[in-house]
Amino acid sequence: MSAAVRVGVIGVGWAGQQHLAALDAHPDAEIAAIAGLEEPRREELAAKYGVARHVPRWEDLLDFDGIDAVSVAVPTFLHAPITIAALERGMHVLSEKPVARNETEARAMVDAARAAGRVLDVGFNHRQRGDIQKLKAVIDAGRLGHPYYAKAWWLRRNGIPGRGSWFTNAELAGGGPLVDIGVHVLDYALFLLGNPTVTAVSASTYDLLASSGFGFSPSSTKTVPEGAPKAFDVEDLATVFMRLEDGGTLVVEASWAAHRTAGDAFGVTLYGTQGGAELNVVDYAPRGDLRLYTDDGGVPAETRLGAPPGRGHEAVIEQFLEKVRSDRWAEHDGSAAIGLARLVDACYRSAAEQREIRLVG
Ligand SMILES: NC(=O)c1ccc[n+]([C@@H]2O[C@H](COP(=O)([O-])OP(=O)(O)OC[C@H]3O[C@@H](n4cnc5c(N)ncnc54)[C@H](O)[C@@H]3O)[C@@H](O)[C@H]2O)c1
Repeated sequence: MSAAVRVGVIGVGWAGQQHLAALDAHPDAEIAAIAGLEEPRREELAAKYGVARHVPRWEDLLDFDGIDAVSVAVPTFLHAPITIAALERGMHVLSEKPVARNETEARAMVDAARAAGRVLDVGFNHRQRGDIQKLKAVIDAGRLGHPYYAKAWWLRRNGIPGRGSWFTNAELAGGGPLVDIGVHVLDYALFLLGNPTVTAVSASTYDLLASSGFGFSPSSTKTVPEGAPKAFDVEDLATVFMRLEDGGTLVVEASWAAHRTAGDAFGVTLYGTQGGAELNVVDYAPRGDLRLYTDDGGVPAETRLGAPPGRGHEAVIEQFLEKVRSDRWAEHDGSAAIGLARLVDACYRSAAEQREIRLVG
């Protein structure tokens, strides 16, 4: 493929705007069309990026000629239907995270990619952070020895994205903070650990604060449809204990609401046989506080590691375009995302049934 990849962007919320900016900045991409329900915002973005074709509904975007690929940046319940329809029309697809509401939908998306022989990719921008990539290099260089315990978190005090918006509705979102921000944490933690098989999960979820009105983000820009019920039927905090095939443990915490320090914080702690590491990122700082803890002949050593800021969605878009421009589409069918969807499903089942769910053996 020599000409630019012509990409239609579906969704003009925060995520869609990241896709538009990254596509605009990439020399091998052309924004071919935009879809999104918010009329003024869609028109402004079309004008900003010089895009002639823009429509409210995704179905109409898929009917346009000359679109090679689509970015799917819409509420999660629409990921599967849009992805499958686009693949069936021969388009490649980049879906926002989470891949879908559950494993069943994720599998249908991957089956559609295989049947169409097109690329399906899922955007995990946080693993593209410079500090996460640096930590991965440190682990791969053996500085921690064998990491056998990891705890990864994304915690907010007041970060529920709009009561009554699609985010707080289980039917539309698939769940609360676990499937929203927890899935990023799960993705980068498993990436850092070298993608071990998770053999069992034990989870609890809570909605004790949101139900009493605590934790709603005062700055949320999420659209709440007029007359929408003020629905909140997802968790506001999830905690998960995962057993790994090598005997290791991964603990994950995700909250939209909790009585904790103000703001938004994510990170990871890893303990290994030769060293430990901790990454703390507060309020989306482009560079987190990354420290390595080792033992230097009996003397404890703490090293602060620098890292470049990372390119987030720019890297996601770049990697997607590389996959589309390669001649190995069959290798990029999105199947890795099924594993994450399966884990999230198992966590919700464990929480509902209040027992450990075994995934292997
Ligand atoms: N990677 C990240 O860090 C990140 C951050 C935020 C959101 N997301 C993901 O991106 C997706 C969108 O989240 P958001 O925060 O941008 O949501 P949002 O509610 O701000 O925007 C959703 C967009 O989808 C559009 N849409 C809804 N129904 C449509 C239809 N029938 N046809 C065309 N467009 C339609 C809306 O008009 C809106 O522009 C979600 O899957 C979310 O999980 C990812």
